[in-house]
Amino acid sequence: MPQHDPSDGVAETTVIGAEAWPADLVLAVRSSTAAAALAARAWVGRGDKIAADAAAVAAMRAVVIGAPFSGTVVIGEGEKDAAPMLANGERLGSGQGPECDIAVDPLDGTSLAALARPGAVSVIAIAPRGTMFDPAGVFYMEKLIAGAAGLGVLDLRRSPAANLRAYAAACGIAETSLTVAVLDKPRHASLIRELRAAGATVSLTAEGDVSTAIAAATPGTAIDLVMGIGGTPEGVIAACAVRALGGVMLGRMAPQSEAEARGAHAAGRDLARLFEVSDLVASSRALFASSPVT
Ligand code: FBP
Repeated sequence: MPQHDPSDGVAETTVIGAEAWPADLVLAVRSSTAAAALAARAWVGRGDKIAADAAAVAAMRAVVIGAPFSGTVVIGEGEKDAAPMLANGERLGSGQGPECDIAVDPLDGTSLAALARPGAVSVIAIAPRGTMFDPAGVFYMEKLIAGAAGLGVLDLRRSPAANLRAYAAACGIAETSLTVAVLDKPRHASLIRELRAAGATVSLTAEGDVSTAIAAATPGTAIDLVMGIGGTPEGVIAACAVRALGGVMLGRMAPQSEAEARGAHAAGRDLARLFEVSDLVASSRALFASSPVT
């Protein structure tokens, strides 16, 4: 269950999945997003998303490096930004404690932070070693995320309107009562039209689909579903939270450029493969923390 602890320096740091982990490791994980969020806050509204991100990365790494575990970064700051710290493959932790995969996004919503717009968060997830999907080379994926009522009901091969109808029926409510979070990107123009025509409320966010994923998987929030294409690393991080929350997450790789598609084919990726949450994180023991930046 989510826990809120205002005493760690950042109000509303949320931890999901703590029950399955040693208390000292949970504390370190929680402190890492709290530290990253505090560091990023110093840059909020200053128009420099790179500096905001760098501050968050350094602060998170400074905590995780001494955390009581043997961690390997699987989802890092990495690849797309060629980041020097928290890179994929980096080993972190004191070496005492469990062997883990680590997924980080010290600042999800870098532009939101730079422009002082709401929704930027610092997030981290850990899971037993070897259980996180490594999406190397594919930066974008299609996502369909909802609460437990969507289990066995949602299907990425069906249209968004058909999924909306099926989810509404499973929840015992009308389509018009459902709110779907979609990233406000030109690639989603037809998705947004289709959802509105089907009667849904579409909640558009400029950036940041980890927070909306958690909201969709959590009963009683303002977001019922997430649909559309977002980052693959963010997808794996979100999967850790969604799985611990008992929600549904379906995915499919969705390269957004010729070069990305070529890279995916060269790496032998099956772009038709349909992912379930357990393909993105194979363990039910994921630990996730999130601290708000803006
Ligand atoms: P950054 O924090 O790296 O800027 O990413 C924010 C984000 O909105 C993610 O939450 C999302 O998954 C991804 O970018 C979508 O990528 P793009 O903005 O290129 O469509």
